[in-house]
Amino acid sequence: MADALLLTGSKQLVTMAGPAPRRGRALGEIGAIRDGAVLIASGRIVAAGPRARVERHRVARRARRIDLGGRVVTPGLVDAHTHLVFAASRATEYEQRIAGATYEQIAKAGGGILSSVRALRAATDEALAAGARARLARMAAHGTTTVEAKTGYGLDFDNELRTLRLLRKLGRGSPEASGVEIVPTLLAAHVVPPEFRHPGGADEYVDRIVRLILPAAALEGLAEYCDVFVERGAFSVAQARRIFAAGRALGLKPRVHAEQLSRTGGARLAVEVEAASVDHLDFASGADMRSLARSEVACVMLPGCSFHLGLARYAPAQKLIEAGAIVALATDCNPGTSPTLSLPMAMSLACTQMRMTPGEALAACTINAAYSLGRQARIGSVEAGKDADLAVWDVEDYREIPYYFGVNYCVMTLKRGTVISKVC
Ligand code: NIG
Ligand code: FE
Repeated sequence: MADALLLTGSKQLVTMAGPAPRRGRALGEIGAIRDGAVLIASGRIVAAGPRARVERHRVARRARRIDLGGRVVTPGLVDAHTHLVFAASRATEYEQRIAGATYEQIAKAGGGILSSVRALRAATDEALAAGARARLARMAAHGTTTVEAKTGYGLDFDNELRTLRLLRKLGRGSPEASGVEIVPTLLAAHVVPPEFRHPGGADEYVDRIVRLILPAAALEGLAEYCDVFVERGAFSVAQARRIFAAGRALGLKPRVHAEQLSRTGGARLAVEVEAASVDHLDFASGADMRSLARSEVACVMLPGCSFHLGLARYAPAQKLIEAGAIVALATDCNPGTSPTLSLPMAMSLACTQMRMTPGEALAACTINAAYSLGRQARIGSVEAGKDADLAVWDVEDYREIPYYFGVNYCVMTLKRGTVISKVC
């Protein structure tokens, strides 16, 4: 095969091979192989495993070889929760919070998400695309090969659809493509927009989402998922239930922002509507955790939020893992609560603040994150037949990826066998 590629010389190849999703103890079973090799052809993994075995494969004879010089190879990282498209930072709010204001106080005063809405509405398509593209390039540089991306800073028909169309352009298959796979989620129900901030306005806005925004997104095939921020000051369980029913009827599966700043019942709703994921969970109760553990819903934890907001409370990772829930990790990249592009940083936080092992953290942002996006059969592990999505790290042991916190050791990222990021 003309385009075959053989990666050898890895000190450790972390395959994540095995059943997906991972629950309980199995989360830490990462399938590490010493001196592993990966054989790639036509963007897919042809063989992965001990070098001597992979080298004997007939395709290997004609393959171009890359010697990784003793580095570590993992599956490409999967970021299952981001708000990728935004127009400006909120560094002023960061400073206000350091001085003592809370996230909710800033939001009530018209800042927070609404300030990002004003900025996005005023931004040109070109400026939004340039910002998102630059972020995707940095994510790829940190090992990320697939990104879920939400709307939610438009909050009206034109700007929500504009954000989705931009995501389509930035995904694979267009001249503006970034190389990173994008999974689009409609989050029109992020907060109630300014035009609807009158008595009864929230329900009117929910009507608008259900009757206009969701159907238009579905008709153009622009979104895979729909999401609702279930929280005081955002949307109620009843409003979310309506949106999810409408989304489901149009083929958009639910994801839920739940139990982030208080316990509101969003996790229970996620189980009820068989959501693909329930995200945040910092305030999840014991009963929530037990019912999530019995469900197929992925629990996506976002430690960057607690870190950036300076909160002591993190999602109860250990309890969820012990209960047998499906846990995943994501950056929640957004300008308000988690302005990071780095999954390795999310892993570092998960390890030290949530007591996940490095292996559990890596599984949570590869195979289980892929599961949360319905892609576990194609991405999230290094196994024959899967897409050749890989990250190469200039470390000797995979545990050093979260250990060296705040420092990026990713040196090469491949998406479907193509190098999309490389340190020269
Ligand atoms: O996931 N919780 C709601 N949405 C974001 C915050 C968005 C913002 O503050 O701009 C989150 O934390
Ligand atoms: Fe979020």
